Amino acid sequence: VKIHDQMLIRGEGGELHQITDTGDEVLTTAQGGPVLDDQNTLKIGSNGPTLIEDFHFREKIFHFDHERIPERVVHARGYAAHGYFENYKPLAKFTRADLFARAGEKTPAFVRFSTVAGSKGSFDLARDVRGFAVKLYTQEGNWDLVGNNIPVFFIQDAIKFPDLIHAVKEEPDRAFPQAQSAHDNFWDFISLTPESMHMIMWVMSDRAIPRSFRFMEGFGVHTFRFVNAKDESTFVKFLWKPKLGLQSVLWNEAVKINGADPDFHRRDLWTAIQSGNYPEWELQVQLFDQEFADEFEFDVLDPTKIIPEEILAPIPVGRLVLDRMPENFFAETEQVAFMTQNVPPGIDFSNDPLLQGRNFSYLDTQLKRLGSPNFTHIPINAPKCPFAHFQQDGHMAMRNPVGRANYQPNSHGIGPRESIAKGFRSFAEAEEGQKARLRPESFADHYSQARQFFVSQTVGEQQHIAAALTFELSKVKLPEIRERVVAHLLNIDTDLAGKVGQKLGLAKMPKPADAAVPTRQDLDESPALSIVKN
Ligand code: HEM
Repeated sequence: VKIHDQMLIRGEGGELHQITDTGDEVLTTAQGGPVLDDQNTLKIGSNGPTLIEDFHFREKIFHFDHERIPERVVHARGYAAHGYFENYKPLAKFTRADLFARAGEKTPAFVRFSTVAGSKGSFDLARDVRGFAVKLYTQEGNWDLVGNNIPVFFIQDAIKFPDLIHAVKEEPDRAFPQAQSAHDNFWDFISLTPESMHMIMWVMSDRAIPRSFRFMEGFGVHTFRFVNAKDESTFVKFLWKPKLGLQSVLWNEAVKINGADPDFHRRDLWTAIQSGNYPEWELQVQLFDQEFADEFEFDVLDPTKIIPEEILAPIPVGRLVLDRMPENFFAETEQVAFMTQNVPPGIDFSNDPLLQGRNFSYLDTQLKRLGSPNFTHIPINAPKCPFAHFQQDGHMAMRNPVGRANYQPNSHGIGPRESIAKGFRSFAEAEEGQKARLRPESFADHYSQARQFFVSQTVGEQQHIAAALTFELSKVKLPEIRERVVAHLLNIDTDLAGKVGQKLGLAKMPKPADAAVPTRQDLDESPALSIVKN
């Protein structure tokens, strides 16, 4: 088209582009001004000083200087893809969530896989937990199932999360090791945190060095609630099962791959999807009622425990297919903001103290990372269903209320109102008790499921666990820490403890550990626990 003697071309979306006389698109500033020369700054003469008047140069450098945003405080290294979730059959008996209402219903999805400890530029095959974060753009708002590839967690209460992560990441004085758990501080914290023992068994197993994201399971970890139209609740645990099955690499392979191709998992997902080899997972749920919860030998609110699939068989409810890579890594994978508190009507929380803490942390961290309360205006985070509210202004506001009234109720007849029929109604769980900082007695057994996991492994897999523990603990300089970990292993499996203790060259085996978290006084008084002074 020609407008005012200027040649313009129309792009695929109907937008207009300025074109040069050679037919290329005209390079412009961010303000749309056409650029004459992008190779040389504006100077006086050929060797003269650069002029501050050069607005094109200043804008270009200014923007470049501000390209970085904080990386995620955990799970910094990740890779994501688009796809969809397809529901198998109506689940109305259990939940009124619309995405589960009809057979064959497809809900758009965005899934980000990640490692936990390493920074954004770390390597893919670290021995680590993998994040498995799923954003489902449902017709009733976004549902984020922010899970991991391991069904339990290190700690039982969110108040310990900063300590855990500080201990996992590089040590604050020397700033290493990056992206791996084999160091004093990590094992120091673990050895003083008996509740982490079940998770440690998983992290030392082959699960923590997956062959690729496509061969991993995913778990919502916590017990959630389904709530149906009659406000009846059923407890639910969510599990993702990879269609390709589970596969891991060997530790020696992981070490070589990290050296040869630190982007191994990224490349695998990219290549698979670009070649039409779409990875798929089945969503399965474990459903149970209060009676089951009361009779189960562990507390279903304790995130360091699973409900074994042999005891409660998971039911398949749908499939997740990843079939499209993001067009831009930063815009989508980096800016996506997962938040456990994003649940549609029909899915609700339990009192798991880790989940309750997460529900605060994720909203809070997104403001820090993305810089504005308007991070939901970024397309990857915006709902794909109709939405309307009176939130306004703030940095980078892209949408503001339309019309005279920006509050409700109002007598202008403007804007949205609440809905008794459709609105999210929290499950009316009865609560009572005194305020206290207590941990229930039902959370106290830290070893039985760690043992169950270990004995469920094949002989080869058990050897891998022993080798991983030996390798990791051999990097730990302080003998007290090694001994404390072996003391915990004695409560899990004496053979395993014996093998690890022997390979580490312990002079004598310690006594089995006490399951209570040692106090400062315990550490001072007990030679076995001995506080680390250096
Ligand atoms: C990030 C899972 C516990 C705070 C993540 C991510 C996953 C995840 C998958 C990465 C999301 C992404 O790909 O962008 C889990 C699981 C947990 C757990 C399964 C336990 C069952 C916690 C706890 C806290 C926490 C207890 C804090 C109290 C965070 C924060 C981020 C994060 C702050 C960074 C989010 C961002 O910057 O986008 N978590 N997490 N997590 N998690 Fe957790």
